[in-house]
Amino acid sequence: MTESPPDRELYRQRRRHVMREMAEGVMVIATAPEAVRNRDSHYPYRPDSHFWWLTGFAEPEAVVVLVAGKRPRHYLFCREKNLEMEIWDGFRWGPKDARAAFGFDAAWPISQLDRRLPELLADQPALHTRIGAEPAWDARVMAWLNAVRAKARSGVGAPEVLVEAGGILDEMRLFKDDQELARMRRAAGISAGAHRRAMAICRPGLYEHEIEAELLHEFRRHGAEAPAYSSIVAGGANACVLHYVFNNRPLRDGDLLLIDAGAEYGGYAGDITRTFPVNGRFDGPQKEVYEIVLAAQAAAIAEVRPGNHWNAPHEAAVRVLVQGMKDLKLLKGRVDGLIESGAFRRFYMHRTGHWLGLDVHDVGDYKIDGAWRLLQPGMTLTAEPGLYIRPDKGVPRRLENIGIRIEDDVLVTEAGCEVLSAAAPKTVAEIEEVMRG
Ligand code: GLY
Ligand code: MN
Ligand code: MN
Repeated sequence: MTESPPDRELYRQRRRHVMREMAEGVMVIATAPEAVRNRDSHYPYRPDSHFWWLTGFAEPEAVVVLVAGKRPRHYLFCREKNLEMEIWDGFRWGPKDARAAFGFDAAWPISQLDRRLPELLADQPALHTRIGAEPAWDARVMAWLNAVRAKARSGVGAPEVLVEAGGILDEMRLFKDDQELARMRRAAGISAGAHRRAMAICRPGLYEHEIEAELLHEFRRHGAEAPAYSSIVAGGANACVLHYVFNNRPLRDGDLLLIDAGAEYGGYAGDITRTFPVNGRFDGPQKEVYEIVLAAQAAAIAEVRPGNHWNAPHEAAVRVLVQGMKDLKLLKGRVDGLIESGAFRRFYMHRTGHWLGLDVHDVGDYKIDGAWRLLQPGMTLTAEPGLYIRPDKGVPRRLENIGIRIEDDVLVTEAGCEVLSAAAPKTVAEIEEVMRG
């Protein structure tokens, strides 16, 4: 048998904690299905984030069941051992060894799920699961419920309450524990190294995809599984396309290059954006815009501390950006008026951050009872202001097609915050220095 994962007890604690939050009822969470890329070739497999957070178990075709109450129990359904399949596709735990290694009370073959679930749901008051995310899963949940209801005349009660499991799991995942923070530091560190490498290698005439290859090289050689999301490598005007992912154009002397790329390490996302000149030297207008975005980001990060509300960093960044838009003669009027009317959205159309974790846009509510929630230690988020200046009426020619975003990964600490991605060069002087080298 392969050894137990070293953090098995941590995952057991997470499951126990979830069951305490549930108080009663049953939670059922499936991992992600495998996805076909073409015919019989699959995309690289990635487990469902909720399932992975609860189990640390990374095989496809698996389901975790938590039975809360006075005697909490947790079960795993997974693929059986299969020598033939293991020769072709590699190791499988099988229920017997998975139970011991991952610390479940019992584990069964996934083929028994539809038979056992109605038994596990009998006389339970509530079923917690994902609702509405996957039609096939919804149908299966209803089939289990109906199978329990069919036993009504034998005196068996079916759950009367169906609960979206995200309510409990999202909130718990919002606060990162030490294992998660270690992984996030590593994801951010690897990502920062990749941005540095891109700066060091970039020169006019290379293609965007050649820079993307350097990022990927750096991710993989440090043990990151994959990019946490599609890398954006956007030269010149492409930087003004927020989700540009074609990455197939040549890089031109005199243009900027915006890279939004992060590694996924141990399941956790890095999410960093840097913008720098293809030829290694910011020209006048590029530097003017860059310094505004940099100041906006500093203002946002300065607002990341316990007790401040979620939107405080965004509000601080917007204020700096709007003053900058006025200084650049992109907008006219009073700062407050331009903020109130939303006129600034012509050049800054996204928000300044999001939760970060197993999902790049991680789970967790941003408002509670209609009010922005307060930042607390252990939360992780991004700070990513930008300015995107497309050619348009009234836009000075010298600023046309400048697109700049600066993004870092930030942990809320007791004292304020820690920038996890601080190793990625960021000031004009630092960037030009790396590019000279
Ligand atoms: N890379 C995705 C984001 O910055 O939100
Ligand atoms: Mn982001
Ligand atoms: Mn990003």
